[in-house]
Amino acid sequence: MEQFKKQPRLPKFAVPKRYDLRLKPDLSACKFTGSVSIDVDVVADTRFIVLNAAELSIDTGSVSFSPPNSSKVFEPSKVDLVEEDEILVLDFADTLPLGVGVLTIGFEGILNDNMKGFYRSVYEHNGEKKNMAVTQFEPADARRCFPCWDEPACKATFKITLDVPSELVALSNMPVIEEKVNGPLKTVSYQESPVMSTYLVAIVVGLFDYVEDHTPDGVKVRVYCQVGKANQGKFALEVAVGTLGLYKDYFAVPYPLPKLDMIAIPDFSSGAMENYGLVTYRETLLLFDEQHSAASNKQGVATVVAHELAHQWFGNLVTMEWWTDLWLNEGFATWVSYLATDSLFPEWKIWTQFLDETTNGLTLDGLAESHPIEVEVNHAAEIDEIFDDISYSKGASVIRMLQSYLGVECFQKSLASYIKKHAYSNAKTEDLWAALEEGSGEPVTKLMNTWTKQKGYPVVSVKVKDQKLEFEQSQFFSSGSHGDGQWVVPITLCCGSYEKKKSFLLQTKLETQDVKEFSFDSNKTSWIKLNVDQTGFYRVKYDEELAARLRYAIENKLLTGTDRFGILDDSFALCMARQLPLTSLLTLMAAYREELEYTVLSNLISITRKVGRIVADARPDLMDNINQFFISLFQYSAEKLGWDAKQGESHLDAMLRGEILTALAVFGHKETLNEASRRFDAFLNDRNTPLLPPDIRKATYVAVMQAVTSSNRIGFESLLRVYRETDLSQEKIRILGSLSSCPDPAIVLEVLKFSLSPEVRSQDAIYGLRVSKEGREVAWTWLKDNWDYIVKTFGGFLISRFVSEIVSPFASFEKVKEVEEFFASRETPAIARTLKQSIERVNINANWVKNIQEEKNLGEAVQELAYRKY
Ligand code: BES
Ligand code: ZN
Repeated sequence: MEQFKKQPRLPKFAVPKRYDLRLKPDLSACKFTGSVSIDVDVVADTRFIVLNAAELSIDTGSVSFSPPNSSKVFEPSKVDLVEEDEILVLDFADTLPLGVGVLTIGFEGILNDNMKGFYRSVYEHNGEKKNMAVTQFEPADARRCFPCWDEPACKATFKITLDVPSELVALSNMPVIEEKVNGPLKTVSYQESPVMSTYLVAIVVGLFDYVEDHTPDGVKVRVYCQVGKANQGKFALEVAVGTLGLYKDYFAVPYPLPKLDMIAIPDFSSGAMENYGLVTYRETLLLFDEQHSAASNKQGVATVVAHELAHQWFGNLVTMEWWTDLWLNEGFATWVSYLATDSLFPEWKIWTQFLDETTNGLTLDGLAESHPIEVEVNHAAEIDEIFDDISYSKGASVIRMLQSYLGVECFQKSLASYIKKHAYSNAKTEDLWAALEEGSGEPVTKLMNTWTKQKGYPVVSVKVKDQKLEFEQSQFFSSGSHGDGQWVVPITLCCGSYEKKKSFLLQTKLETQDVKEFSFDSNKTSWIKLNVDQTGFYRVKYDEELAARLRYAIENKLLTGTDRFGILDDSFALCMARQLPLTSLLTLMAAYREELEYTVLSNLISITRKVGRIVADARPDLMDNINQFFISLFQYSAEKLGWDAKQGESHLDAMLRGEILTALAVFGHKETLNEASRRFDAFLNDRNTPLLPPDIRKATYVAVMQAVTSSNRIGFESLLRVYRETDLSQEKIRILGSLSSCPDPAIVLEVLKFSLSPEVRSQDAIYGLRVSKEGREVAWTWLKDNWDYIVKTFGGFLISRFVSEIVSPFASFEKVKEVEEFFASRETPAIARTLKQSIERVNINANWVKNIQEEKNLGEAVQELAYRKY
């Protein structure tokens, strides 16, 4: 018995082949009963069967094992549910015969409120609150619904039967084969599934409407949503049908199941979940309302659908062997979702937007407390935390880097052969590299091991030296220190034009390259840009002369948007790491005055906001000039875009308008604040006013909140009224995300209290956490005061957001101490990594502040930039 405790994985002397699972949820009592008969293959002599179970009560008398070809039934002498290890140990006294026998177990459980396992979600129907039953099993919560081998490699087939109220819709992974109504209850049985992992099993029981379509080869696709909202499912349905066709061609394997259902769940902890054949979503990421959803909502729906459907191949058909390879699922699905979105909506320039993904990966991976893409996992509680920007964003970015190195076609062919080889089975990272190596003849394993087995990434410094270029790599840290990691870096560079291109693999610390062929030195304004198109996962540091030439190239519009993005983003990161003075960063930012490309401007905005926050800590005396400078940066684009949508304008302009106006509001631009207030009043009188279309609502709400104080609460109260009146989740989120931007700390505190009130679903509480800089301190006090409640309510996946959002914005060493002291007695495995990362960020900010305070001539430079005439 003891030998099975404290083990990261189950012993494999008996493995499941098929589950016959029957469940009967009681939606009013919030309980369920169930029984499962599992075909178990005993492959080694044993007296024990060990599987996962948690928070279930096992009917001990019901447990039996019937071996193959024998009438003897084995009953366990002992049945132990070990809650700490989430295992069920059955001790049979006699050794079990080898071969496939049937293990039967009866059990009961609770439909919990924690959004994991088998849980209840609440919806309204005809003004009445009702319960629905929903499952969320990834990563390791199927064990909270039925006893099972809850590991991704233990694939088996599933035959599911449900006993549910007759009037409800009951969905599972496979199509219904029979529905028998018996008075108030009905028994619904589903077709047996192909082999799959337990974390992909799904059940939903409730009242829903749906819209339906078919793929050309006959897969039935439906989008289910709240009764009365079926129209809002049409956009996702269209995307799903299009995407299934694309993936079928790309992976060269058809969608493996006869149907695909997608469903909006009102209480949902992550964004969406790729359950095989029954994908579940937050409402905001599945439903699209022509009248009230914004362009950014539309894009959100499309990319999330594309992401979850990618998993139907990458994840569901071919599954990671263990959570160490989670990135194979998530990094890959993220990357492929861009491929699909680009093909369906080329005008969204989604590959440029992909750079946000790369930036997020680089940002997290710049911390010493980051982790390698392939990460050791020893305990179920550690898995939640690795659904992070390393697995998703760095994962997707290194895939893009590799694709760009190997070439589009070769990459796709090798992927298709990987899928074919590992279909209905499991794979590891090295299996993917093997397929790509075979397809390309390149040393993929050697190259990629440097990116997935060690954390971090390099900054490549480039210098002009005797008519040659010298390249040096060293590990980049946002803290400014240098590590000794080394990578095989696919370097690309252009010189003076995109036709003059060179590429090589940087395999050592230092290398010199001859660039005579570019006659680079004869023309002093000729630029050199590394990491062309930003497909590489690294940063570049140019010497002063090269940097000046690039600034000139930006001002003269000689570079692509992706390259403009990269130069800005790298400079910002280098500035934070104290390798570039703030003055240089600000001077570079001034070169983007006439920028109009969405992704570049959006990044410029986010950089101005971060710089604004740090300067507020370091040099509060400069804030007026800094704000003035930032406002001047957005003048050009703001005038081009205006407040009202232009006839037939692009999706990107629609998104950009909202972001620019939000930034102007935050920097205190008077005209923006006044215009917002005028339009908001019109909106309060008429929710369908053309003066406030969805794309500018967030900006308007933020502007309204800038004027709110404890003694002038009207804007706040009005927004709360809109929140209460709308039944569109996207609108509620827009409001929640705006309220805490208020500069009055007392109001911020009220907003935080509101976000824990019954009026805000737990899934949405996180949207109020991004508070104004003035609200930082009250938010921290609030977090401490409410910590026990927060732990109880948000245990699991969301809790780490509370820590990172509230702790990371600080910028002093005293705060580091305070945070450490508070959490010393409160740390748990679920927040351990996030807490360390957040504290590291505070230290980085604090050092940055010190550095800025010591910077000479900063005041004069800011003054000049703020009032420069163009
Ligand atoms: N497999 C995840 C869902 C998930 C996340 C389960 C965390 C358990 C823990 C799903 O495929 C996913 O990645 N969802 C994303 C949305 C996606 C578009 C990036 C999410 O939930 O954020
Ligand atoms: Zn995913």
